Amino acid sequence: MKYLLGLDIGTSGTKTVLFDELGNALAEASASYPLHQPKNGWAEQAPEDWWQAVCKTVPVVLKKSGVPSADIAGIGLSGQMHGLVMLDAEGRVLRRSIIWCDGRTAKQCHRMEELVGRDRLIAITGNPAMEGFTTSKILWVRENEPHVYEKCKHILLPKDYIRYRLCGEHAIDAADASGTQLLDVSARQWSREICSAFGVDASLLPTVLEGPECSGHLSHHIAAALGLPAGIPIAAGGGDNACAAIGTGVCRTGKAFTTVGTSGVIVAHTDRVTIDPEARYHAFCAAIPGGWHMLATTQAAGGSLSWFRNQIASELSYKELDALCEQLPIGAENLLYFPYLMGERQPVLGIKARGVFFGLSAIHQKHHMARAVMEGVGYSLLDLLEVYRAEGTPCNDMVLCGGGAKSPFWSQMFADIYGIDIHLGQSGESACLGAAILGGCAAGIYASVEEGCHKTVRMRHTVKADAARHLQYRHFYDVYRLLYPKFKASFEALNP
Ligand code: XUL
Repeated sequence: MKYLLGLDIGTSGTKTVLFDELGNALAEASASYPLHQPKNGWAEQAPEDWWQAVCKTVPVVLKKSGVPSADIAGIGLSGQMHGLVMLDAEGRVLRRSIIWCDGRTAKQCHRMEELVGRDRLIAITGNPAMEGFTTSKILWVRENEPHVYEKCKHILLPKDYIRYRLCGEHAIDAADASGTQLLDVSARQWSREICSAFGVDASLLPTVLEGPECSGHLSHHIAAALGLPAGIPIAAGGGDNACAAIGTGVCRTGKAFTTVGTSGVIVAHTDRVTIDPEARYHAFCAAIPGGWHMLATTQAAGGSLSWFRNQIASELSYKELDALCEQLPIGAENLLYFPYLMGERQPVLGIKARGVFFGLSAIHQKHHMARAVMEGVGYSLLDLLEVYRAEGTPCNDMVLCGGGAKSPFWSQMFADIYGIDIHLGQSGESACLGAAILGGCAAGIYASVEEGCHKTVRMRHTVKADAARHLQYRHFYDVYRLLYPKFKASFEALNP
């Protein structure tokens, strides 16, 4: 039996899981790190914190599992998408990474669309100019920190920085590269036209590979420090959503998943690139050669609940919160929550949006607010699903994953709000499993990603949707939808 390591460089922390080649998780470990928010709407992390989390968690899973390190055949990398890491010629990090949920680049986005034309930008990169994506961050640094930009010789995304530390290569996969906004998503290569329009020197960018390709081998000095043999192949990997797609078996048209981590995302697989001219969802390459994703995001999903718990209800565990919320009626006694703590991405609101409780009454206690937070995240994801449905992509074969899937109460709520049954995967860490499958492809254990999924991905349970509860949620969702566009102008005024 061979073993595979899957690493997910997330926003709240890094998770490392050791799987056997049949997809059984033998040991896992996680290490958290801070999110720096120097200004309202900004979000940064230190790449060294990600690396330290890798150094902490890999030896722990090796020890816990008892697996001989010589039997570890492959490593796969998953990670938060879009973050900008800048390195100098010696490979030193030049500034903290500006990450996916940072919203400082409205001005740069405006100019990007002026330079290329919004329609042309969408046609090539699959997306309009996005504050969260890497290119607008590159332009922001060039304008606001020219001394940093001058020294920049390499641009990487978060998990690709970890790759660089593991094997010294500057590489990226087509899925994560799609989230930079410099990739031609149909051709799966950097777009010369886009790079030259924005004046981004393509020599700064890493080599684009497909997710299952081998990007390099674990170097000697790092192997010794991690307790692994040198030379283990490291797959190109994918962004966290692309890896979660693989880890939930979403590798052919008709399949979709919802992940509720810090952000909430709905991804549907397509076997041809599907670009929405109105940009209500992103078009990205999948980490599967010849596959693409329709992907739509709500910025603060699990992030809303962890904010609420940490700031307002820190004396309660998530389990206790669930138990209290379960006692309450649907609608939390007529209280709505809009999860815009980090702005909102899709379908319509902007980066200036901020969170709202609507309908507060003296009757409400903390657990009403907690239930409203969970329901609000559900409505915001339903909003994304409705766009897919309207486009003729019903997403009825839906898997739920991420931290949110660990709560039976919240999982049931998603099934009822969507009005469809949802499957829960056996592996609680789908992004790590997806990364490990890619690691297995790079090591030659699986002939294809599909074969890897077939051998490893299993569902543990199906949560049945209840039609009566769906109707009740639908009533509150209709109110939510009416309010949603009305906030837009006021958010702009609040955050000029
Ligand atoms: C997707 C996105 C987020 C991050 C979070 O476009 O920005 O899901 O990948 O990790």
